[in-house]
Amino acid sequence: MAVKFDFSGKRVFVFGGTSGINLGIAKCFAGAGADVAVASRSQEKVDAAVAELEALGSQSAGYALDVRDAEAVAQALETHGGSLDVLVSGAAGNFPALANDMSPNGFKSVVDIDLLGSFHVLKAAFPYLAKPGASVINISAPQAYLAMPMQSHVCAAKAGVDMLTRTLALEWGPAGIRINSISPGPIADTEGMRRLAPSEAIAEQYKASVPLGRFGQASEIGDAAMFLSSDAAAYVSGVVLPVDGGWSVAGASAAALAMSQHAGR
Ligand code: NAP
Ligand code: COA
Repeated sequence: MAVKFDFSGKRVFVFGGTSGINLGIAKCFAGAGADVAVASRSQEKVDAAVAELEALGSQSAGYALDVRDAEAVAQALETHGGSLDVLVSGAAGNFPALANDMSPNGFKSVVDIDLLGSFHVLKAAFPYLAKPGASVINISAPQAYLAMPMQSHVCAAKAGVDMLTRTLALEWGPAGIRINSISPGPIADTEGMRRLAPSEAIAEQYKASVPLGRFGQASEIGDAAMFLSSDAAAYVSGVVLPVDGGWSVAGASAAALAMSQHAGR
């Protein structure tokens, strides 16, 4: 059952919020009364997400942009205007490839979206967040702390995202802004898991590696994002919160084995 929070009258912006986990987060905030804006590259996905959020009663807005384009990110925030109570930075890219088979541009593409893109989003959003009580959530991944074959680009990028979270918790704390990472475990019906577990056998191996024995739901990541953005977490900043059915405790090592199998070793 979804945890209930009240975000009535609050303004939320979710970068990369048009599908999967991030759309799940946006829908949770909208369901809790917030006005939620989203941004991603595809205008079609942006329009569909805005329609879904409005159907939940949110006054929504959408922006088609690439987070690798700092100017476009800043422009969208300026057009949106007003202050933000919650910022979620979750745009990301992933494809499984061994480092030896990856071009420099392949590595750069993921680092530019996940890490540099997060920097663009956070830096541009600061003036709109700069008031005590504002909450920032970066969407990280287990690759930030667990080395996985075929994931050198994501491991490097997400480790950087978590250090951005920790560094900005220091720099933005005096302004009363809290910033935390959420590290989702394997989440059902997402593009990420379609790419990492392309066969039923590998998906089952992942599932068996989660102590709770199942994939998570996007709404469960949304619940955690609402918790971290609520008064219940008013003294929580600079943490990386795994929301993963206990996967980070031990199961994650089995996922590394699954990726080795994926890599044919
Ligand atoms: P997804 O549906 O593909 O979500 C990625 C989102 O980011 C989409 O809305 C995508 O929309 C947007 N995006 C991608 N590149 C972008 C760019 N350059 N500029 C702006 N927006 C961009 O995948 P997901 O699996 O739900 O992943 C969501 C987040 O959760 C990611 O940060 C991922 O690393 C993290 N995560 C996922 C899992 C999992 O189990 N799936 C586990 C741990 C962490 P457009 O295509 O329209 O740009
Ligand atoms: N294996 C190896 N290299 C790959 C690859 C794969 N499966 N897919 C892409 N690349 C390389 C490309 O060859 C290219 O390098 P090159 O110019 O040296 O040939 C580089 O990555 C960029 O590819 P391109 O398709 O131009 O990038 P893009 O900017 O349009 O897309 C991606 C970015 C590659 C991350 C794409 O997968 C994407 O848009 N992902 C978003 C959705 C997603 O990944 N969701 C999961 C959640 S994290």
